[in-house]
Amino acid sequence: MDIQKLISQMTLEEKASLCSGDDFWHTKAVERLGIPRTMVSDGPHGLRKQDEAADHLGINDSIKAVCFPTASATAASFDPDMLQVMGEAIGESCQHEQVSVVLGPAVNIKRSPLCGRNFEYFSEDPYLAGKMCTAMIQGVQSRNIGTSIKHFALNSQEHRRMSSSSDCDERTIREIYFPAFEMAVKKAQPWTVMCSYNKINGVYASENHWLLTEVLRDEWGFEGYTMSDWGAVSDRAAGVAAGLDLEMPSSGGVNDRKIVEAVKAGTLDEKAVDLACERILKIVFRYLENAEPATPWDKEKQHAMAAAIAADCMVLLKNEGELLPLDKGADVAFIGEFAEKPRFQGGGSSHINCFRTTGAVEAAKAAGLRVTYAPGYSVAEDTLTEERLAEAVAAAKAAKAVVVFAGLPDSYESEGYDRKHMRMPECQNRLIEAVAAANPNTAVVLHNGSPVEMPWIGKVRAVLEAYLGGQAVGEAAVRVLFGDVNPSGHLPETFPVKLEDNPSYLFYGGEGNRTEYREGVFVGYRYYDKKQAEVLFPFGHGLSYTAFEFSNIRVSAEKIKDTDTLTVTATVTNTGKRAGKAVAQLYVGDPESTPIRPVRELKGFEKVALQPGESRDVSFTLDKRAFAYWNEEIHDWHVETGEFTLEIGDSSRNLPLKASVTVESTVELPRHYTADSIYMDIMKDPKGREIMGAFMKKTMAIFGAEQESGGTDAAKEAVTEEMTMAMMQYMPLRGIISFGGPETAGELRNLLEALNG
Ligand code: BGC
Repeated sequence: MDIQKLISQMTLEEKASLCSGDDFWHTKAVERLGIPRTMVSDGPHGLRKQDEAADHLGINDSIKAVCFPTASATAASFDPDMLQVMGEAIGESCQHEQVSVVLGPAVNIKRSPLCGRNFEYFSEDPYLAGKMCTAMIQGVQSRNIGTSIKHFALNSQEHRRMSSSSDCDERTIREIYFPAFEMAVKKAQPWTVMCSYNKINGVYASENHWLLTEVLRDEWGFEGYTMSDWGAVSDRAAGVAAGLDLEMPSSGGVNDRKIVEAVKAGTLDEKAVDLACERILKIVFRYLENAEPATPWDKEKQHAMAAAIAADCMVLLKNEGELLPLDKGADVAFIGEFAEKPRFQGGGSSHINCFRTTGAVEAAKAAGLRVTYAPGYSVAEDTLTEERLAEAVAAAKAAKAVVVFAGLPDSYESEGYDRKHMRMPECQNRLIEAVAAANPNTAVVLHNGSPVEMPWIGKVRAVLEAYLGGQAVGEAAVRVLFGDVNPSGHLPETFPVKLEDNPSYLFYGGEGNRTEYREGVFVGYRYYDKKQAEVLFPFGHGLSYTAFEFSNIRVSAEKIKDTDTLTVTATVTNTGKRAGKAVAQLYVGDPESTPIRPVRELKGFEKVALQPGESRDVSFTLDKRAFAYWNEEIHDWHVETGEFTLEIGDSSRNLPLKASVTVESTVELPRHYTADSIYMDIMKDPKGREIMGAFMKKTMAIFGAEQESGGTDAAKEAVTEEMTMAMMQYMPLRGIISFGGPETAGELRNLLEALNG
């Protein structure tokens, strides 16, 4: 398709109108030129195709589809290959339904457990979020369907989401809030990017030139079109100039006219409108030229896939005395309404109209297991009556083991608003306590999109975190509980003991329309580890029914330059009696550094399936980014020369293997020494130290450490060389004039020339 030719045939009005949606879910057609409408639809963990009465909050029904586990769960798999397969399945359903772009994945960083939309997001860690979303995008797009990675950027709260400004320093944006988007754009080239509702440092994402053009396109090389989140446009003409190609859903023509007026008034270059059209049309035709509406959509097959994925995402948080797996011949009581009707997805635009759902009770019965059921709490009323409590306790007493299915009801977390606290419903906590008191063999299965406080943790023997695991989560839970599947999920986020422990606690939500990301790069485990704080469950944690041992860490070099790569290898062995999957995690740390940095940061992971007794090597390749921090002076990644720690294990708090490597920087940071620069900073700079020689001697003489003849012994003892150095290090160079007299001024001038030369 000759897109340039098409654009040249369009009127300004037609071009402006192409830059907004035709309705809730379609791009515009230009019939006289043979440009048809194309459809976009929500995801991200399945297809939410709405036909009539469209809305973007999941209120009206969409077509029957398959709900896969949400990102909160799939991130816990630590298995990008699985995300790729899930993406392929979603891509196929889009082909079948003639949807050109699925609106996802959503990759915002989980800054606080309170964010109402955490269930849709992957992680508190940018590397993990990046790996998972990249794989999913590759999966969907392998079927010639586009994705829309969202919400770009810094959309980590729902509170005032359409007006709030996320105010954050450059380094934190680069190290924490951008990398998932960056990795996806560079490695998977999503067809579209959806900008967020919020402002970033005072400028709406939808009209942020730095965000949408300088970073996204000029730096990262994004080639597709950008679209607004639904209703995220404030100043449309400014948006076009900033690089926002498509406004969604539409403004009924109001904003299109503003584009026309701005071009006519000379405040918006028509070329910017042409460019937006070009980008939109490229994707429109990319889809049309590859559309395969005959693609089958086998929902049964996808349901089975959703069950397998959900099982591989579950995180075994606790398993005292190996209560799990349960004996298939034993009498087991399932308690809690979620056992019958699990909560498996979140509310809002991602809400999928499932063609089928399976609860755990139904799945256990279908598998011929000896399971009884008591509902306990009521989800709808958020209560636990005495009668239901008594029934649950009686069921618990009569069984060999009990599983309480608990978690967060829909009203506790959703798109559109934040949680007010991190607690589970009081009625559920009460039920768990009572059941655990009635039967010591109590396990809890959790259905929640974000961490919860667990006041009963010491009273139950096992906890299985199922997150919001999609429509087949009941089947998956039964398979894991009874040992058909060995759990292999690991936490993609820290579970703090209580909400107040979270690093963003003091500032989350902000004041009025301003929310400052004051904890900086210390998000999640980056904070808890630095503080050596107690957590309920650490980032990366996840148990198995077998045991793994990590051994034999090897590095390909002891010393590298920041332009080289380093390979780190270790051996993982299944030392238990069951087949299982380990998740090897590699963390890098810079113990001595000028910028204040986290103790460790995830820079590699691999999921390995191992038979009992089997060993396999895992290997990670690290490049500059694994060691670098974002330097705000040069506005670039920078590695500070020195030794870095390399740790491998299976959680951020279980890292038995340790090694180190020295990385040498090949980049010299700019030097701007002035008379106000302090001695310490110059002496730390190798070049500075070299130049300082004579000047240093002179300084030491003035300050007494080199007194050879003068001064009494007592005076020498009172001021040792070490003390002089310690006192002097914070002194500005100009101090030499204050203490050494006016004749030193010339020497200082010469020194500064040499240092900056
Ligand atoms: C959400 C997006 C979603 C869009 C369309 C918005 O409210 O923030 O994630 O894709 O609606 O439903």
